[in-house]
Amino acid sequence: MISQDSIQQILSRIDIVEIVGSFIKLKKRGANYLGLCPFHNEKTPSFTVSPAKEIYKCFGCGRSGNSISFLMEAEKYSYVESLRWLAAKYNVEIEESETSPEYKQQQQVSDSLYIINSFAQKFFSNELFNSEEGQDIALSYLKERGFREDIIKKFELGYNAETKDGFTKLALAEQYNLDYLQKTGLVNLRDGNAFDNYRGRIIFPIHNQSGKVLGFGARIIKKNDKAPKYINSPENEIYVKSKILYGSYFARQAIDKADECLLVEGYTDVVSLHQAGIENVVASGGTSLTPDQLRLIKKYTNNLTIIYDGDGAGIKAALRGLDLALEESLNVKLVLIPDNEDPDSYVNNLGTAAFIEFVNNNKKDFILFQLGIALKDVGNDNTKKAIVVNQIAETISKINKTEDFTKQQDYIKQCSEILKIEEIGLHALVNKFIREKIGKEEIRGSRDQRFTDVFSLDNKGLVDNEVTALFNKDEIHEQAMIRSLLEFGLKNWDESQKVADYIFKEIEENQLEELIDNKELIKILHTYKIWYNAGIEPTSKNFLYHEDLSMSTLVLSIMDFDYEISVNWKTRFEGHIPTREELFSEEVFSTLNYLKLRKIKRLMNENQGDLEKSTTTEDQMILVQTHQHLKEIEIELTKQLGTVIFR
Ligand code: CTP
Ligand code: MN
Repeated sequence: MISQDSIQQILSRIDIVEIVGSFIKLKKRGANYLGLCPFHNEKTPSFTVSPAKEIYKCFGCGRSGNSISFLMEAEKYSYVESLRWLAAKYNVEIEESETSPEYKQQQQVSDSLYIINSFAQKFFSNELFNSEEGQDIALSYLKERGFREDIIKKFELGYNAETKDGFTKLALAEQYNLDYLQKTGLVNLRDGNAFDNYRGRIIFPIHNQSGKVLGFGARIIKKNDKAPKYINSPENEIYVKSKILYGSYFARQAIDKADECLLVEGYTDVVSLHQAGIENVVASGGTSLTPDQLRLIKKYTNNLTIIYDGDGAGIKAALRGLDLALEESLNVKLVLIPDNEDPDSYVNNLGTAAFIEFVNNNKKDFILFQLGIALKDVGNDNTKKAIVVNQIAETISKINKTEDFTKQQDYIKQCSEILKIEEIGLHALVNKFIREKIGKEEIRGSRDQRFTDVFSLDNKGLVDNEVTALFNKDEIHEQAMIRSLLEFGLKNWDESQKVADYIFKEIEENQLEELIDNKELIKILHTYKIWYNAGIEPTSKNFLYHEDLSMSTLVLSIMDFDYEISVNWKTRFEGHIPTREELFSEEVFSTLNYLKLRKIKRLMNENQGDLEKSTTTEDQMILVQTHQHLKEIEIELTKQLGTVIFR
């Protein structure tokens, strides 16, 4: 604990302009200083520092505070770390005050555990290189896997023999405390006998940010179905799994330099990539990232690239909790390693250059990827789809709005296209989640469970009627068109043709598949056409008694649609409200038109996408012309639609 006296000394020296100024460029404006806000992206400065009040405030994103909170936010320092940083800057010697007995006790335990771990690490390394068993079994195993000796030494890998208590005996003989030995997980006690916990295993020491050994991961060498592949240290005063990223001690400088952190699953992945010269890499141990781990990454870079094998389990774990990364404004990309490989084996197969190329060419956007795998399980199930819509909306809502506003808009656009729901609808849902942002702790507590549910898609409790309505919207229009065919198909459209003739002609011109997505609805249309052309007069009754049960059910549900007259109708026809029967031609016309308009919108989006990708002016000119042409059609269709509005 830093003494109050030292704190006062530090605080009295603080010059906020100097402190903030060492991170961003400040210009004097009247009594204040102005610069580009370090907390959100901006082109014109709105970050203001007041030397008189010793505070800063950004008029763009609203963040404000004093020198200490600035350091805490900008550098992700803790309060104490900020004080130490300031003390170093202003040459204030820090005086540690009397600490509480509990704190002292805990410090003492921590120190003891570090000492034991360091002793153990040396013991295991010595075993690996200098004992016969270590050389014959462990070192040869590591070398067979392709690990070089310099890398084995850098990561301080070791080995513990198969004997029951080689390490325990020595540790006790050296007077190490049995309680602490147990706490580290190195020694187990059974029936009063102490023995080694990691027998016949390769030992991976896990280092803290300053290189001290926090704990170990121990990998079995001989295949054994009864024993776990890895045994990791138990949680104790220094080994807190949620705060540890394996390899971060060796990676920090490389992460800083590359401005990117690669995240892999396992110990061997980290070591192999290092050996290949790729050093900006850490491992999470296959579990989902915790807020503390994300913050650790965020200290060095905003760019996180997750490199996992594509087998599913690991990747799902990695994705869980990742919307937290969005809240922290991390750019998350995903790279999947193919065919039962992991980064360790893949880099060994490909070599460094090809591996780096593979990673760079296969970075997927994390949100779109997440949507992709969730949609895989959805099929035609609306309940499942609702869960996915909900979940993606929640994920998008986590994007820090002030910092990444356009990013959020882009995602809404892209995801609504993929989901075939209306952009405005998804927008509204995202906003709903933003509004509803419940207390953070509560979210964090329940997060893991919720994500599991979403991915296994077996929790129907999440479904929200609003969402179902939202994504049904598109389908409702498709249904409305089919319904108008079923109900009015046999009426006269004009002197020369019936409604059915008109609809089929229009559809032919616009291509059925481009108008209607739902395959079941297309089937109804085909069936109608076959009957109609064969001289049978199709009515909804024909369908309701059709042997194809799924078709008859669908027709039934279409007919059941509770029709409501829109406000426009009511104002247009004062007094007498016309029935659908009377207005069938308008209904036929507008339902078809809606689908045509949707098709044009989709084509325009596609065209827009091509335009963004196009490289030659020639291409661009054609695309721009196409755009104008489509735009004209859109305007025409919208005009026609304007008179008839469906709910
Ligand atoms: N892991 C663990 N406990 C297990 C299995 C795995 O803690 N019982 C963690 C370890 O951090 C491990 C990572 O998950 O490194 C990935 O597991 P896996 O792919 O099975 O192991 P590898 O590290 O690839 O080991 P190897 O290449 O030797 O099979
Ligand atoms: Mn592996």
